[in-house]
Amino acid sequence: MKQALTGVALAVASLAASAQGQVNIICSVQAEWCNLMSTVYSRTTGTKVNMTAKGSGEALAQLNAEKANPKTDIWFGGTGDPHLQAAEQGLTLEYKSEQIKDLHPWAQKQAADSKYRTVGVYLGPLGFGFNNELLAKKKAKAPASWADLLKPEFKGEVQMANPASSGTAYTMIATLVQLMGEDKAFDYMKSLHKNVSTYTRSGTAPVKAAARGETTVSISFVHDVTTEAVNGFPVGSATPTEGTGAEVGSMSIVKGGPNTEVAKKFYEWALTPGGQQFGLAAKQFQLPSNTKVPKDPRMTDPAKIKLINYDYAKYGASAERRRLIAKWEKEIQNLSR
Ligand code: G6P
Repeated sequence: MKQALTGVALAVASLAASAQGQVNIICSVQAEWCNLMSTVYSRTTGTKVNMTAKGSGEALAQLNAEKANPKTDIWFGGTGDPHLQAAEQGLTLEYKSEQIKDLHPWAQKQAADSKYRTVGVYLGPLGFGFNNELLAKKKAKAPASWADLLKPEFKGEVQMANPASSGTAYTMIATLVQLMGEDKAFDYMKSLHKNVSTYTRSGTAPVKAAARGETTVSISFVHDVTTEAVNGFPVGSATPTEGTGAEVGSMSIVKGGPNTEVAKKFYEWALTPGGQQFGLAAKQFQLPSNTKVPKDPRMTDPAKIKLINYDYAKYGASAERRRLIAKWEKEIQNLSR
């Protein structure tokens, strides 16, 4: 009898374990955040989390590549524009979260713009990072405006990412186009090219280089500069005086993924205050989308900087995003310096 009960108990236990299942996630924020989320989520729910790190543009390319037979369930984080493009291309599932009413209006708008195929998980303004020690050595002032980045003292001293792989860099292009008009924005980027030493694959590589003294200036999300500063590197940040854009970092469920029901549970959790506390715990300083998550003074208050009225729907549309990236590749990337 005891034997039989043990057998039943075992069967129930293994059923329960398989009911927890697994979820395959592409992570487009810094790995520390995703690693912490996946560890906590696996321990508390028993769900196995398989995590792969990819930049925003690369993640979209992967979802397109596996479209016929998706291997991914959730795309967590990364700039919102490629999430909107994925939604438009039918790569992501329509799903309205129970948490939606607790989210900031910008996060709800991201969901509504995509017909509930993505949702905002954080907000982060674009700006610059700079190495204070290198600036002092050069006797140069910290850049405070887009115009400052063109100064001769920054020749070969600016790093930014490549917009084809990086959402950070695409956010910059879309921001400049909205701020200056397209022709002037491309003229500006041609001048900027003379000061840029390299276009990195990942959006955070430039600020990591600035932190380690490999370049003086980076074009970065301000919260990524804060992370380096908190880790003890001699970096400061600024948001450009002319105005700047912000990303609505997003999350989507992949349509036809292998573990959709498990994915929905993770998605709900990731939007709750409990799930959203792990950004800060992993020293990431974006503004969380759930209004009930406590703010930290090291997060940039969007009300205190000059933000443009970024048209997320327009610049997240497939045709526009593809066009602007192709134009940058044709007109800027390979210009001689
Ligand atoms: C970092 C930032 C995120 C951003 C992401 C974009 O992880 O902390 O806020 O969404 O970069 O990465 P990407 O490589 O696509 O520019």
